[in-house]
Amino acid sequence: MDILEPNNLILSIESSCDETSVAVIQNGNKILSNIVATQINSHQRFGGVVPEVASRHHIEQITLCIDQAIKQANISVDNLDAVAVTYGPGLVGALLVGVSAAKAFAFANHLPIIPVNHMIGHIYAARFIKPIVFPSLALLVSGGHTELVFMPEENEFKIIGETRDDAAGEAFDKVGRVMGLKYPAGKQIDQMAKMGSDTFNFPRAMEHEDNLDFSFSGLKSAFINTVHHADQVHEELNKNDLAASFQQSVVDVIVEKTKKACDKLDIKQLILAGGVAANSGIREGLDNMLTKHFPKVDFVKAPLTLCGDNGAMIGAAGYMLMQHRVFGDLTLNANPSLEFDWELNAVK
Ligand code: KG4
Ligand code: ZN
Repeated sequence: MDILEPNNLILSIESSCDETSVAVIQNGNKILSNIVATQINSHQRFGGVVPEVASRHHIEQITLCIDQAIKQANISVDNLDAVAVTYGPGLVGALLVGVSAAKAFAFANHLPIIPVNHMIGHIYAARFIKPIVFPSLALLVSGGHTELVFMPEENEFKIIGETRDDAAGEAFDKVGRVMGLKYPAGKQIDQMAKMGSDTFNFPRAMEHEDNLDFSFSGLKSAFINTVHHADQVHEELNKNDLAASFQQSVVDVIVEKTKKACDKLDIKQLILAGGVAANSGIREGLDNMLTKHFPKVDFVKAPLTLCGDNGAMIGAAGYMLMQHRVFGDLTLNANPSLEFDWELNAVK
């Protein structure tokens, strides 16, 4: 069977952080199954992901998820054309579980392996909404990354702006902890923000600097200082207003930097992806900015259910890479600090 023929089926595996996920994707844009085993409950009591605990959970879950993904897709292993797997960036022990499982599965079933950069996976979650049109710009906001990625053509990725300190999701989670919220706090802060207003006027770091980089650690410190000071003087602060004020600062900076990027580049599409892309303030803020300043730019938001880590997005990215004949082999290794240079490990 030619690997590019219609009805191409990819088994895709994601295990870079705290979700074990396996999907079966048809033609890069149709989800036949997408099993996600989250470990959040095990990490919550530590206030963040514990790498060793994550690896152990992945080991327990990976074969179960593979079996379930194939079963739920209602296919047989013989119908598969390739195995795609996240090989970085992420936690090395966690990544190794997915990479080892993918290699074993591919070897046993005589299937090619497609090595996928987790961040390209996040971008390709948008593929389940519509085709990506180039030149395109992706705003990637997750627990570990905040970056603007310019894509002049398919399979070309250039970071044009990134955070100089904390990632947006990291900042959400850290201020959530100070407010006594469970990890990860982003979703809850988003919900609280809807019931409050921006009364604290926290700093908007680097908003007016002439570059496309972000910084969230000053905002985080301002937030923590405000809460600690109130504690010392026994003043009760409105938590919804705190959430709304923090979120509005993040939104303002993200929207302004994305606007600057759109000013500089002639793009056809803006893609919003990554765990923090689920944030209602960011979705709305970008929507308004584009409608006002760049009405011709097509705004594609990753589906809410596919903003967090999942195997489906890896399958969508894997399908694109397969068309560019990017394959790994049994020497494929996890690369925890992988950048947009996946070709290093690929065999063309
Ligand atoms: O992409 P992701 O699932 O994992 C990484 O690859 O990092 O992103 C997880 C991050 C967490 O920091 C979480 O708090 C944040 O996404 N998050 C949100 C929302 N939903 C999840 N942040 C803000 N608003 C949300 N609605
Ligand atoms: Zn992620």
